[in-house]
Amino acid sequence: MNTNLRSFDNLIFINFKLTKLEQMNINKVKEFYKNPRAASIEALKIVQKKRNWISQNAIIAIAKFLDISSTDLEGVATFYSGIFRQPVGRYIIQYCNSVVCFTTGYKNVKKSLEKKLNIKPGQTTVDKKFTLLSTCCLGYCDQGPVISINKKIYKKLNYSIIPLIIESYNDIKKN
Ligand code: FES
Repeated sequence: MNTNLRSFDNLIFINFKLTKLEQMNINKVKEFYKNPRAASIEALKIVQKKRNWISQNAIIAIAKFLDISSTDLEGVATFYSGIFRQPVGRYIIQYCNSVVCFTTGYKNVKKSLEKKLNIKPGQTTVDKKFTLLSTCCLGYCDQGPVISINKKIYKKLNYSIIPLIIESYNDIKKN
């Protein structure tokens, strides 16, 4: 074990606490697995649910709670596109950039999203409403190009339909 890293972890950990509810829910998931590492994704999702993203301090706190290394957990969090490592907007738009959507024209969809939102992938609009991210296959390869907005799937897209989809979210009142 890297002792320097461990003591650094302890320092950062002071600033971040899992809530009782988060601890309880992570414990429930842990019960299903022999190896606590297997509970990593679910634990990350539990913490992300209310906080909207997973900070470095959250990684350290969750890793400690699962008794696994924060480097391991960091690897899982980075690999899994559903875990956000920076603050995100109210609506998370993910466009598929995998090979089939490449052939059906995801680049035009991306261009249209960038133009309408006035942001680049990885960024959030000034009003914190939309975050634009790329993702790998969303599972609808025969109906590409595909995007998801807060998990709602939009298929068979083209450049011109994107502004209409975004506008439909501008009409939704915050509840
Ligand atoms: S390749 Fe885009 S949904 Fe599968």
